Amino acid sequence: MTHIQINTQLSLSQIKDNDAHDLMNEISHQSVVENVLQVPYPYQLSDAISWINFVEQQKQDYQKLVNWAIRYDGTLIGGIGRHMKYDIESHKDEIGYWLGPNHWNKGIMTLVLHAYCTHLFQEDKLIRLEAPVFDFNIGSQKVLEKCGFKKEGLLEKAYRKKDQLIDACLYAKIAP
Ligand SMILES: CC(C)(COP(=O)(O)OP(=O)(O)OC[C@H]1O[C@@H](n2cnc3c(N)ncnc32)[C@H](O)[C@@H]1OP(=O)(O)O)[C@@H](O)C(=O)NCCC(=O)NCCS
Repeated sequence: MTHIQINTQLSLSQIKDNDAHDLMNEISHQSVVENVLQVPYPYQLSDAISWINFVEQQKQDYQKLVNWAIRYDGTLIGGIGRHMKYDIESHKDEIGYWLGPNHWNKGIMTLVLHAYCTHLFQEDKLIRLEAPVFDFNIGSQKVLEKCGFKKEGLLEKAYRKKDQLIDACLYAKIAP
């Protein structure tokens, strides 16, 4: 499956070469990058092209789409995906997501994450989805709670960004 239609305007599909400029423009904001672990800032066109190639390579390696573009009326506005953190046969995985700041607080990620969880449970046959969130990222924690994730605990100093050690809240959702 390479296309998920969420409503008339929102969809998930593969990121393509011609999305590179939109990817760079949507993700290259301090407010996005400070909430995720491994996105460079400022984000260059070469970073976008590397990511698009990586996603295509993953698709070939795993024979399925692992990272998806979030589209509004066909235009890329963000991304969502699984990290393939465990073995390919594992019943669980970690997920991550982001949206360009112009699209925040309109309920978009709540709709997207809900649809993506359904996809992972039904198509990828996962049983447990994990989402570690930096403790200061209240908006993302609200999205997870609205999508039925439960907070399992605090991961003290679990992540390092430059010289900053960051606490994270571990959220998880179990297949119905
Ligand atoms: C986190 C993120 C994906 C949320 O997407 P979104 O489409 O804005 O989320 P939604 O609109 O569906 O829901 C956000 C909720 O958080 C609330 N919220 C946002 N910022 C908040 C804050 N600082 N304090 C309290 N609530 C906040 C919103 O009011 C909304 O709640 P409501 O529906 O009860 O009003 C988006 O902000 C983002 O991409 N951030 C940067 C990257 C990131 O954090 N990725 C996740 C890493 S774990």
